[in-house]
Amino acid sequence: MTKRTDEERTLIADAERMFPTSTRCLTFDPELNFCVGKAQGSQIWDVSGNRYIDYLLGSGPHILGHAHPAVLEALRTVPEGGTSHLIVNEHAVRLGKKILEHVPCADMLSLHSSGSEATFFAMRLARVYRKRDKILKFEGAYHGMNDYAMMSNQWTMGAPAFPQAVPNTHGIPRSVSNEVLIAPFNDLEATAAIIAKHHDQLAGVILEPVQRTFEPRPGFLQGVREVTANYDIPLIFDEVVTGFRMGLGGAQATYGVTPDLCALGKAISGGLPLGVLCGRDDLMAIANPKRRLQMLPYSMQTGTFSSNPVCASVACAIIEELEKPGVYERLDEVGTRVRAGLRDAIAQTGIEACVTGVPSVFEIWFTKDAPYDHRSAKGSDFYKNIRFSDLLLQQGVLKAAEKFFISAAHSDEDIEQTIEAFHVALDQLARELA
Ligand SMILES: Cc1ncc(COP(=O)(O)O)c(C=O)c1O
Repeated sequence: MTKRTDEERTLIADAERMFPTSTRCLTFDPELNFCVGKAQGSQIWDVSGNRYIDYLLGSGPHILGHAHPAVLEALRTVPEGGTSHLIVNEHAVRLGKKILEHVPCADMLSLHSSGSEATFFAMRLARVYRKRDKILKFEGAYHGMNDYAMMSNQWTMGAPAFPQAVPNTHGIPRSVSNEVLIAPFNDLEATAAIIAKHHDQLAGVILEPVQRTFEPRPGFLQGVREVTANYDIPLIFDEVVTGFRMGLGGAQATYGVTPDLCALGKAISGGLPLGVLCGRDDLMAIANPKRRLQMLPYSMQTGTFSSNPVCASVACAIIEELEKPGVYERLDEVGTRVRAGLRDAIAQTGIEACVTGVPSVFEIWFTKDAPYDHRSAKGSDFYKNIRFSDLLLQQGVLKAAEKFFISAAHSDEDIEQTIEAFHVALDQLARELA
């Protein structure tokens, strides 16, 4: 039984009173809500001192574990030179060079403060380039909180005919739904048909190369690349999750498909606010403010915190760590073992469930067959997933609502404890469902 001190209970109550956006609301047991005390490596502690093995990892950023020494060192030294200047700085330049070195599509880049900003600016750039407005995205894909991204994402309930978009939150102007077209992920034929029909209105196509935890079917990314190139429609890869997580070159290097634009964030952020937009030089050059003076089509994309030196230096420190031999191998090994443990536990309990994803980010679905897109995942009972997460948390294992994120800091002991927790949680769930 998790012990909760009065101090932590007061903090939780104060938070709930002040913040409408309480972050751990997806639980059936409010007693499991906690307030973070500290985090280190693969572990996170609540204020009462309960310890959890962390597979939430701040929603993905802590690929090297929490409070990594390289991150702390950058945070200790860089702010002495000031924490933001708006004007470019040496740390931003260093980070730019690293990204250009590793990310295949990156000729030029711009540095922002979140993944949502990066995808938003990617779509704006594509509109300026194409002199058209509509964006095609895939059903179930998440590209952040901007209005154009909040269409037919993973929280979509209905199944309207493609390419009709559905807003995922109130507060988005109705007109935005008409500017976004929706296609089914992993269905090249349907996607190609939508692009062929609407190409003359399309500004760009945006996708997550691994959508949530659905791997692209062989040929899908290549096919979308080909169709978009045929019409000269910019293809935007949202690699906010996969970038620097699936390897230094992200999913585009893994699958050998180079987009025109790419959004990055989480894995190189160290938990600081960072979003990166990179891509083809003729596209990225559209963001050069000189074009405004020259009366040329121009995409404005700046912000008070763009090219922030502290965020950039932390990102450089992380990339330097990721460049060291063995880091991705360890990430892969941990993920492979945890995933295999989850699959074994599913098989032993006989519960109807399966696992999708890649070693460093994956998910359990309570379906017979592994889903491959938003609609095939709909058979999965999300309530079972929430209950499973609760049962894991009771045993000191914290997962994201929709994913397990793996870090290179997870130890062999973490893996063993996690697998044990899988067995207990799934046994209990099977009993509850019987
Ligand atoms: C694929 C993807 N794109 C974009 C975003 C938005 O990034 P941020 O939360 O930094 O705005 C996320 C965040 O979860 C994401 O998973």
